[in-house]
Amino acid sequence: MTLMAAPPTTDARSPVKATKVLAVGSQKGGAAKSTTSLYLATRFAEYLGGTEENPVVGLLDRDVTSKNLSEMLRLHPEMVRPGVRLLPGKELPGASEGLRLVVIDTPPGIAAIDSLKSADLLVVPVIPSQQGAVNLVQYLRNIKGQRVSVSPHMRLLALLPAAVRNTKLHREVLATIGDIAGTYDPPLPMLPPVPLRTAIEEWNLDAHEYDAAAKELFEYARI
Ligand SMILES: Nc1ncnc2c1ncn2[C@@H]1O[C@H](COP(=O)(O)OP(=O)(O)OP(=O)(O)O)[C@@H](O)[C@H]1O
Ligand SMILES: [Mg+2]
Repeated sequence: MTLMAAPPTTDARSPVKATKVLAVGSQKGGAAKSTTSLYLATRFAEYLGGTEENPVVGLLDRDVTSKNLSEMLRLHPEMVRPGVRLLPGKELPGASEGLRLVVIDTPPGIAAIDSLKSADLLVVPVIPSQQGAVNLVQYLRNIKGQRVSVSPHMRLLALLPAAVRNTKLHREVLATIGDIAGTYDPPLPMLPPVPLRTAIEEWNLDAHEYDAAAKELFEYARI
């Protein structure tokens, strides 16, 4: 009688991908992608208990045209908080780096969709404007059309209203964006809006305006 091979244990299965990849994307220029990438990376590193010796969140700048985020961080290394690591180049690091999460800052325009390559999760910041709402619809359509070739398993987590002012125009556009989110299939959550603040414009990482959105997104992301 031949002995049957024991069924594979959990450890013998193909390894679980340890590092999640969250892209911050929009095809609109100046939509707060880089700002959002930096604040989310900073807050998520805090939630995950990252330290100087043990960074847990990598920040990858795929905006090759302006590179504003990585250039700014190279000039101001103190803005890369303990727990966060600015990654070189455009490609994801190997699993051996031990990061729990990589946040990708993506470019606007024609490279927007390609730069989502290998992302597991996506959050879309939107600064309220009529043009922003039009761009959002196009972007969501492009993602649906090209997801299979770019990142087939990517989950679109939420929209994030950013640089929001308490004006009639912003309230109206936010309602439109809410409709776009609600009629998406499946419906998209809208994160708590990040208000327009000088502290955010000046990249004060201790400012609390991103906290509520970051907490909620962290729960959706299940990192
Ligand atoms: N909540 C906010 N309050 C005040 N200013 C903000 C806020 N969010 C973003 N900004 C400002 O808006 C401008 C555009 O933001 P950011 O550079 O993050 O956009 P982007 O989408 O990365 O732009 P690009 O498409 O050029 O890469 C910046 O000057 C930034 O400081
Ligand atoms: Mg940018």
